[in-house]
Amino acid sequence: MSLIQLPARETSSTAQKITAQTLLDRKQAREPITALTAYDYCTARIVDQAGIDMILVGDSLGMAVLGYDSTLPVTMDEMLHHTRAVRRGVRHALLVADMPFGSYHASTEQAIGNATRFIKEAGAEAVKIEGGRNRAALVAALTQVEIAVVGHIGLTPQSVHRMGYRAQGKTTAAIDELLADALALESAGAIAIVLECVPREVGGLITAALAIPTIGIGAGPECDGQILVFHDLVNLTGATPAKFVRRYADASTLFSEAIQHYASDVRGGVFPADVESYHLPREASAELLAREPLKRSR
Ligand code: KIV
Repeated sequence: MSLIQLPARETSSTAQKITAQTLLDRKQAREPITALTAYDYCTARIVDQAGIDMILVGDSLGMAVLGYDSTLPVTMDEMLHHTRAVRRGVRHALLVADMPFGSYHASTEQAIGNATRFIKEAGAEAVKIEGGRNRAALVAALTQVEIAVVGHIGLTPQSVHRMGYRAQGKTTAAIDELLADALALESAGAIAIVLECVPREVGGLITAALAIPTIGIGAGPECDGQILVFHDLVNLTGATPAKFVRRYADASTLFSEAIQHYASDVRGGVFPADVESYHLPREASAELLAREPLKRSR
């Protein structure tokens, strides 16, 4: 197996370590925050070296790399495994791990225990949990034990059976609920809030109301930062993208063409070539040539 050697980019050596304070400074300076998901070492290195501020090991890995239909089946073991791999590839970005469905719902003790594992065993610097006022007490409890928390409101994929995958905050009553959720999370100590699938106006309104940064995904350009799922950005999903996805590359086509080219070279006998083969030293080669030709056993 050949090991992929990723080129060291300039951003890697010169970029600063991003912390919760950096995100806050960015909001205050009106400098947009960049965020992406990553689920493995190789992708994490590329994303980190590109200078992205925040890397989320999202439970979207359930669909993107594990082939589940939703985020609901994702387990703590799966999240820890992927977070450890990403940790090994990240030097500069703030590393946030998603707490999977069922890992923080039973009790505060359960949530603190599982969140602690992300920090202690996997090297995450913050955890993300879904929910608003119903999670404010939990955010305060986690903050109290020194665990930084990113909130997540709007469309919350772990609530799919109650909410569906629909944009949220489309009535004034729903906007008031979202605003109350955001303010409760901020008061509880959240370091940032992901706002997913809400009208642009709502993204702007909540962003203006908060001192902590909002990171939008389908929440319009007024958010303090933007996050996308890496596999959506480079088209590795095979699925029809959501309205808010912009595809910056077509990795599916790139990979597919490379694989077809490889298969055709193998079938045509042109891979591997002589330069891609190892050779015997001269004496061993001469000794081998002097031997009786080996008979094939079949
Ligand atoms: O799991 C995930 O990738 C997320 C992003 C959509 C914010 O929560």
